[in-house]
Amino acid sequence: MSVKHLASIKRLNLLYEGKAKSIYATDEPELVIQHFKDDATAFNGEKKGTIPNKGAMNNQISARVFHFLKENGIKTHYIATLNENEQLVKKLAIIPIEVVVRNVVAGSLAKRMGKEEGFELDDPVVELYYKDDSLGDPMINRFHVHSFKIADLEHIRVMEVEAQRINNMLWTFFDERGILLVDFKLEFGLHKGELLLGDEISPDSCRFWDKETNEKLDKDRFRRDLGKVEESYRDVMDRVLK
Ligand code: TMP
Ligand code: ASP
Repeated sequence: MSVKHLASIKRLNLLYEGKAKSIYATDEPELVIQHFKDDATAFNGEKKGTIPNKGAMNNQISARVFHFLKENGIKTHYIATLNENEQLVKKLAIIPIEVVVRNVVAGSLAKRMGKEEGFELDDPVVELYYKDDSLGDPMINRFHVHSFKIADLEHIRVMEVEAQRINNMLWTFFDERGILLVDFKLEFGLHKGELLLGDEISPDSCRFWDKETNEKLDKDRFRRDLGKVEESYRDVMDRVLK
């Protein structure tokens, strides 16, 4: 899209207000604006706060990562960064499944399997969660997807394969920046019938540990009151943009 065309895109009404992002309509029916907020929540919205400058930092981090994935052949919703907190993206009908990929045991997997955080898995683990706040996003499998008619199973198969390809690419991308990619969450959606990667990839949606010190550089600092939250997001941003 030309710079002139980009500059002429108008932000219209709010379409969707999420916990960390809002989606606005534009004067182009197939394009929307993804606005990144400083608001942070955890434990299905039970814990609330703000992380100063998080919106602007996640906007830049996610844009860089999506650009990298596009260069490597992944189809995504990302089109262009518009300003400090906003990017222009293709409008998606979001598939209500979160795909989590894990390289190292942490978070809910550590709890579920009774393992210490930090245990490196022989092969990545891929999990599906049903996006439903009233249920607290329960973990499900393909049988639930099929029997409860949550989504098309063929889309789920493609999402699982894409998630593993993305993991291979991102593992190296972050490794080169001194970051261990512990785990992350992806969302996909349909745009004119095409399955695209959506949402964001940022310290809100990934676990990033410093490769040398294992220091946490992601939203776990907020979830667990570890301090230096903004500083850690900035550290990730500086390394990602280098
Ligand atoms: P978990 O260990 O809490 O299940 O989280 C796995 C990964 O998914 C971690 O990188 C954080 C991310 N995540 C989200 O992006 N949104 C969520 O609502 C949750 C629970 C996790
Ligand atoms: N984003 C989620 C929430 O607040 C949970 C999390 O990221 O830990 O509900």
